[in-house]
Amino acid sequence: MIFATNNKHKLEEVQAMLGNSVKVAGLSELDFFEEIPETADTLQGNALQKAQFIHQRFDNDCFADDTGLEVDCLNGAPGVFSARYAGEPTNSEKNIDKLLAEMEKSSDRSAQFRTVIALIQGSDIQYFDGIIRGKIATERYGSGGFGYDAVFIPEGYNKTFAELSAEEKNSISHRGRAVKKLVEFLSKQRFLQD
Ligand code: IMP
Repeated sequence: MIFATNNKHKLEEVQAMLGNSVKVAGLSELDFFEEIPETADTLQGNALQKAQFIHQRFDNDCFADDTGLEVDCLNGAPGVFSARYAGEPTNSEKNIDKLLAEMEKSSDRSAQFRTVIALIQGSDIQYFDGIIRGKIATERYGSGGFGYDAVFIPEGYNKTFAELSAEEKNSISHRGRAVKKLVEFLSKQRFLQD
């Protein structure tokens, strides 16, 4: 199964959740280093666009994900533009700086991460989503993770994602929740095949 990503962090997260049942190959393992177009204006549209691109290129079942940080007081921004919130080339530190500046005067810090996975098997398309609610901290805490992890405090915790272990984060994260649905779906298929 191909995971249409070149992000090593994501690949490790997803492979850890799938265990030994399915071997996931990232794009670098296929020697594919081109940019995949991501021009849709929704997470679902982008996930499908990436999965379709790789599915056509390699003629192999594959899935792709797209994630956005949706901040309530910013009407859901940066959302589908999370990666390039502070412009291109993409830079996580600049994205966080911009987010903290935009929210400087806001007492409502609530936000969510949302992931949509698009799975293509032959001509079938399935979507799986995962959401984690939380709050945006007023400054960075922790050194783990990537992207906006240092400022996102998941609901029920008083630490940012960057202060949690990878296992803790995976067990509650947006992507973890979407991947769990994907894994359940794939496991059921295997069960039916056996
Ligand atoms: P993508 O669509 O999954 O590549 O993610 C879009 C943006 O959200 C990128 O800037 C990522 O750094 C950020 N992002 C995605 N997943 C996470 C996460 O688990 N933690 C923090 N930031 C993330």
